Amino acid sequence: MERFAVRPEIWYGTGALAALEKLAGKRVLLVTDGFLAASGLATRAAERLTGPVEVFDRVEPDPSLQLVAEGVAALEHFQPDVVVAFGGGSPMDCAKAMCWFSRCRPPLWCIPTTAGTGSEVTSFAVLTDTEKGVKHPLVEEGLLPETAILDPALLEGVPPKVTAETGMDVLTHAAETYVAAGSSPFSDALAEKSFSLAYDRLPAAFAGDLGAKGDMLLASCLAGMAFNAAGLGACHAMAHALGGQFHLPHGRLNAILLPMVVLRNAGDRRAATRYAALAKACGLSGTPRALSAGLVRLRAALDLPDRLPVEGGALRSALDDLSAAALADGCMAANPLTLTAAEIRDLLARAGGLGGGT
Ligand SMILES: NC(=O)c1ccc[n+]([C@@H]2O[C@H](COP(=O)([O-])OP(=O)(O)OC[C@H]3O[C@@H](n4cnc5c(N)ncnc54)[C@H](O)[C@@H]3O)[C@@H](O)[C@H]2O)c1
Ligand SMILES: [Fe+2]
Repeated sequence: MERFAVRPEIWYGTGALAALEKLAGKRVLLVTDGFLAASGLATRAAERLTGPVEVFDRVEPDPSLQLVAEGVAALEHFQPDVVVAFGGGSPMDCAKAMCWFSRCRPPLWCIPTTAGTGSEVTSFAVLTDTEKGVKHPLVEEGLLPETAILDPALLEGVPPKVTAETGMDVLTHAAETYVAAGSSPFSDALAEKSFSLAYDRLPAAFAGDLGAKGDMLLASCLAGMAFNAAGLGACHAMAHALGGQFHLPHGRLNAILLPMVVLRNAGDRRAATRYAALAKACGLSGTPRALSAGLVRLRAALDLPDRLPVEGGALRSALDDLSAAALADGCMAANPLTLTAAEIRDLLARAGGLGGGT
C-alpha cells in the first residue's frame, strides 16, 4: 500500500495576495528578511491584514539554529493566531521551524517571493548549524504549511542572478525526484510538468519576463509537491554539505552539481530511462547525456559558474568532511544509486576543478 497526501490549500495567480484577507482580525506574526522588509515588498502583505501584526524581519540566507531560537522567543512572546512567512526559502524555512519548536505551534501560511525552493508546500526546513558548518534538512509532517499563496506580482523585482539560481533549484528538485527511490505516478506527473515548464521558461524569466517568472513560481510549487512525496538525492545531499561549509547560494550549488550527478546516476538503468524521458519532454534527444548537456548549456546561458567558486586548497582540505556530511544527509537515501564516500569525494573534487578526487 502506498500513500500520497495533498496539502496545503494553494491560492495562485496575479492578485492571489488578496487571500490574506481571510485572516481578518487575527493576530499575525509576519516572518521575512531585512531586504524584503526594507524594500516595502513585505508591506504589501501587512496591508492586507486587519488584526494586530508583528514583524520578525531578522531572517538571513540559510537560517541558523540560533536565529530559529530567537524567532521562537519572539513568537511565544507575541502569541499569534497565525504565522505568515513572506520571502524565499530562508524566511519560509525559518518560520516553519519557529512554529514547530514553539509550545503553541500556530498554523503557518507561506508566501514565496522567489521561484525555487517549493518550501511553501513541503514538510522540509533546512537549518544551518553555524558552529559545525553543517546544514540539516529537518523533515516533519507537522512542518507543512496550512496555506500557500503564489502571486507572480511579488517576483517582479527578483534580480536575474537570484532568478537563475532559484530556477536551477527547481530543475534539480524535479530531476532528482523523478529518479528518486520513492517516486510514484503522482510525483512523476508533478515532476515531469515542473521540469519541462522550468526548462522552457527559465531563460525568459532570467530576461525579466513577468509571465515567465509566474510560470517558474508554478514549476517551483509543482516540484515541491513532488519531492515532498518522493524525496531528493545526491545532488541535494552534496549541496547541503557545501552550503553549510562555504555559504554559497543553494541553487548555484545545485546548478554546478546536477549535470555531473545525472551522468553518474545514469549508471542505474531505471534512472537512465527516466532521464532520457525528461530530455525528450524538453525537445532534446532522448538520452541522459543530452539531458546533462542541456543543463550545462542552460547554466551557461544564465551566466552561472560551471565549477565551485572555492579556493582549491580550502576545498581539498574539506573533502573528507564534506563527503561524510553528504553521506549522512537525509536526501542521500533517495538517490537511485548507492554512492560510497570515495565516489562522493570524487564528484565534489571534480565540481571544484580538482580532477581525480585528491
Ligand atoms: N524547505 C525546502 O523544501 C527547501 C528546498 C530547497 C532549498 N531550501 C533552502 O532555502 C534556502 C534558499 O532559499 P532561496 O533560494 O529562496 O533564497 P533566500 O530566501 O535566501 O533569498 C535569496 C535572496 O533573494 C532576495 N529576495 C527574495 N525575494 C525577493 C524578491 N521578490 N525581490 C528581490 N529580492 C528577493 C532575498 O532577500 C535574498 O537576498 C536555503 O537555505 C535552502 O537550503 C529549502
Ligand atoms: Fe533545493
